[in-house]
Amino acid sequence: MDLYADVDAYLVDALQEPDDALSGALERSAAAGLPPIAVAPNQGKLLHLLVRIAGARRVLEIGTLGGYSTIWLARAAEHVTTLELDPRHAEVARENLASAGITNVEVLVGPALETLATLTEPVDFAFVDADKANNPRYVEQVLRLSHPGTVIVIDNTVRQGRVADASSSDSDVLGTRELFDLLRAHPQVDATTIQTVGSKGHDGFTLALVR
Ligand code: SAH
Ligand code: DHB
Ligand code: MG
Repeated sequence: MDLYADVDAYLVDALQEPDDALSGALERSAAAGLPPIAVAPNQGKLLHLLVRIAGARRVLEIGTLGGYSTIWLARAAEHVTTLELDPRHAEVARENLASAGITNVEVLVGPALETLATLTEPVDFAFVDADKANNPRYVEQVLRLSHPGTVIVIDNTVRQGRVADASSSDSDVLGTRELFDLLRAHPQVDATTIQTVGSKGHDGFTLALVR
């Protein structure tokens, strides 16, 4: 774990410029008592690059926290809609986005499943990073808003390898395994999951493309 974090620190230093808006967002989030679970800087940049690679203009994020990943997405997209349950998190995110000079983000507060049901605008890229037990429901809603070419990234789908435990009764693991069943069975989706190590330990993400 120390090695993972040390190497991540080196990799971020090697390829990423210091960024006051992003580090300020993490500092304000910590000061406000938000949990330190934002994507790592190199994961944030991966999201940013994927939005650009996909040529995505309209981005949907589920799980805002303090808006750290949102800043990465918003810098690559035309517009981001981000969904957050906790009004305190949303307030910190709005402050962080304003401090970063970002004006193309709409933060919608409430249980994501309820908010998603009200959305009708098509989505080119989605980042799913809220309560993991609901991931199958979230991805179903994202697919309703998708079109051929829509890219979906789901965070935290490995969780120290716990996802591979078929006898797990953990609701996050069950949600992720159900998500994989849904993706595999869906006639219009191609998906893969990649394990990662780094400053956030051993985890992984799922990448899906709508065809
Ligand atoms: N994407 C963020 C991290 C998100 S952490 C980043 O990388 O910077 C997960 C967030 O999902 C938390 O802020 C939590 O409050 C939110 N969340 C949990 N359950 C939710 C729900 N049912 N609806 C919307 N957001 C939810
Ligand atoms: C947790 C949530 C996340 O989105 C993450 O990237 C890491 C941890 C959590 O709820 O513990
Ligand atoms: Mg996450």
